[in-house]
Amino acid sequence: MRYGHFDDRTREYIITRPDTPLPWINYLGCESYFGIISNTAGGYSFYRDARLRRLTRYRYNNAPFDIGGRYLYLRDNETRKFWSPSWQPTRTKLDNYECRHGMGYTTIGSTFGKIEAQTTYFVPLGETLEIWKFKVTNHRKNPAKLSLFSSIEFCLWDAQDDATNFQRNFSTGQVEILDGVIYHKTEYRERRNHFAYFACSEKLAGFDTQRNTFLGAYHSWDNPVAVARGKSFNSVAYGWAPHGSHHVKVNLKPGQTKEIIFILGYHENPVNKKFNPPNSQTINKATVKPVIAKYLDGGNVAVAFQALREHWDCLLNTYQVKTPDIHANRMVNIWNAYQCMATFNMSRSASFYESGIGRGLGFRDSNQDLLGFVHMVPSRARERILDLSATQLKTGGAFHQYQPLTKRGNDDIGSGFNDDPHWLILGVGAYIKETGDWGILDEPVQFENEAGSEKPLYEHLCRSVNYTLERLGPHGLPLIGRADWNDCLNLNCFSDTPGQSFQTITNKEGKVAESVFIAGLFVLAAKDLVAIAKKRGLDDEAKHYLAEAAKMEKVIYQHGWDGEWFVRAYDNFGKPVGSKVCEEGKIFIESQGMCIMAGVGLDDGKAKLTLESVNKHLATKHGIVLQQPAYSKYYIEMGEISSYPPGYKENAGIFCHNNPWIIIAETMVGNGNRAFDYYSRINPSARENISDLHRCEPYVYAQMIAGRDAPTHGEAKNSWLTGTAAWNYFAITQWILGIRTDFDGLVVDPVIPAKWKSFTVTRKFRGNTYIIEVKNPNGQQRGVKRLTVDGKQVVGNLLPAFPQQTNPIRVEAILES
Ligand code: GLC
Ligand code: GLC
Repeated sequence: MRYGHFDDRTREYIITRPDTPLPWINYLGCESYFGIISNTAGGYSFYRDARLRRLTRYRYNNAPFDIGGRYLYLRDNETRKFWSPSWQPTRTKLDNYECRHGMGYTTIGSTFGKIEAQTTYFVPLGETLEIWKFKVTNHRKNPAKLSLFSSIEFCLWDAQDDATNFQRNFSTGQVEILDGVIYHKTEYRERRNHFAYFACSEKLAGFDTQRNTFLGAYHSWDNPVAVARGKSFNSVAYGWAPHGSHHVKVNLKPGQTKEIIFILGYHENPVNKKFNPPNSQTINKATVKPVIAKYLDGGNVAVAFQALREHWDCLLNTYQVKTPDIHANRMVNIWNAYQCMATFNMSRSASFYESGIGRGLGFRDSNQDLLGFVHMVPSRARERILDLSATQLKTGGAFHQYQPLTKRGNDDIGSGFNDDPHWLILGVGAYIKETGDWGILDEPVQFENEAGSEKPLYEHLCRSVNYTLERLGPHGLPLIGRADWNDCLNLNCFSDTPGQSFQTITNKEGKVAESVFIAGLFVLAAKDLVAIAKKRGLDDEAKHYLAEAAKMEKVIYQHGWDGEWFVRAYDNFGKPVGSKVCEEGKIFIESQGMCIMAGVGLDDGKAKLTLESVNKHLATKHGIVLQQPAYSKYYIEMGEISSYPPGYKENAGIFCHNNPWIIIAETMVGNGNRAFDYYSRINPSARENISDLHRCEPYVYAQMIAGRDAPTHGEAKNSWLTGTAAWNYFAITQWILGIRTDFDGLVVDPVIPAKWKSFTVTRKFRGNTYIIEVKNPNGQQRGVKRLTVDGKQVVGNLLPAFPQQTNPIRVEAILES
């Protein structure tokens, strides 16, 4: 069953009933001001950091799941009936309803009692504010006398503190109201130089800024007293819970439409110009007023909206494809790329499953996110790489997370995740392959954010590799530390105390447990570093790293090969994890994907054999599960992985993030049919028809789909913020469609389903547009035998980065056996 449909032309998903199985959300803003918005207008907003600069409140994990948001109420002043045009929070049965989630905007519209209302929410480019453009039309034969109420609940900035420290917070809230604008200025008197504001384009009939007055005691968002009685209280918050509500009277003739604009914004003043008059406690509004005036003007709003649409057209046009598969087209051309922007911006911090309070930007996560993002805005990828690497430790290790506002490593989580440093090499590699910007390697970058510790970025990459070389275990494999990619494989944790964090407690010294996965990752990263060192003319270093990679490969064959697949790890007692000798958890996905991606087993048939094992033991119709058999009980020597019920999360769930590793591995052995089959099993658009089972949004990937051991096999969870976005984008664009960035240009090496007769990719790359037509007349899965560039045949399948030219470069590639 479906709850809506795609409109690929407008790049929207259109939800046609409000009661989706879970809130189906979208992100507003893609620079510094962000909002999360559900299909019923739920969600919240923040500036840069979801924890430390939260503008509006949100209560997580609630019943109903989604309550609190950017609400509008309409009231018919004659019948006294009131309703929410976005369905929530009153949940009045609407005559029709439609939510369009688009690129950076959401429009929610409905009709009730012949009053049609539509609100478009978006963040103008370059601004730190969001616009709600509201339009209401009277389809009645008679005039309509309506009241419109807006409603948001201000958060007292630090979302963690806001949710916990009531004894203080109930007494700090402050607002100002001037010319119909509600200014939220809690803590502005002391150490903050920022405030929020909520403005309306109409003359107000009233306002409320004290939540409890607006709602009334014992009332909830579905029946605020102010709305029910049709009149605001003009309350002025002084402590308790600052709130923003405007009351506007809207009288409409039959057929008449009216547009009303609301702006919710964030503004900073220079520290020495906070107040006006200077010695008062009144916010200096000199610099914010022009911004407000600008966007209360409908003409300017229309221009800003158009600019946003063009911005997204431009971003997405970097890579466009036409294949015989509508789901692949839609995800590559629109939604997968769009999701990559969200994961780049948010890492794993703020979604409907991530509170925005707990996590900063992950080191490994953010580096991987670059794989799906770098082609869209390389300059921001560059900045991110420099920020990330500045949190790297002198040892080459990494802070596991950093806070975006301070850009500093997060001490609470610390370091010791031994895979972390290698992702930096892959991130930097991806960036250089995209841009050819070798100069980034010479950028001086601090270690541990310490002034004076600067070294060229290249040195950071070397230390990443050395970090592992200095931490090898008894078999010569890398020590795992607290965890590797699999955060829940905590082999040194041995926790028997409820509530301990599996990631930060290590009860063992960590000198025994090893990771075959990190070994594979090491080989993959070292190979990039070899290519980089060569380019810098450092042949000896290149040789050295190549030798280390070869050595590691040998160790993998010796101690990481189980006979039919790769072992996953060795535990604290030196016993294998992910081996046929294990009782449970005999085979894991991660080491299979990573070792083959690193090239291990490609020459001697081991890769093929491994992929057969994956197919036999791990593949389900909903995707490839993480391991089998699932852990049926808690194993203290395994850690968090065995804490989940079988079929969920890292315990044999379909962890969508690592499915593309197998997809890529399949392309590397030339199996286009299977690669694309696996790709389609987790493609959200291809799962749209089973939305009742899948439950999450059909337009973005979720972190997990319940595995075959779970009673809910096929149900997705944790949508949006997952490495799945970048990796699937990378797998389909670079490995299946095979238009792959390399240090010296674009490789054309598709590995596709045999039944595809042709496809076309339009790819912007280092200043040129390539239109690449791939033809497959004889039903091959791989094998570019002829490549012509602007009609001229070239040798091999590498398209060098041509000098910039105005016309697109036309490429034709023919697959032959
Ligand atoms: C989550 C984490 C990621 C980790 C993965 C597997 O997605 O954000 O860092 O690799 O889980 O545990
Ligand atoms: C894994 C999980 C993630 C969780 C983390 C810490 O990365 O996927 O959701 O937050 O481990 O438990």
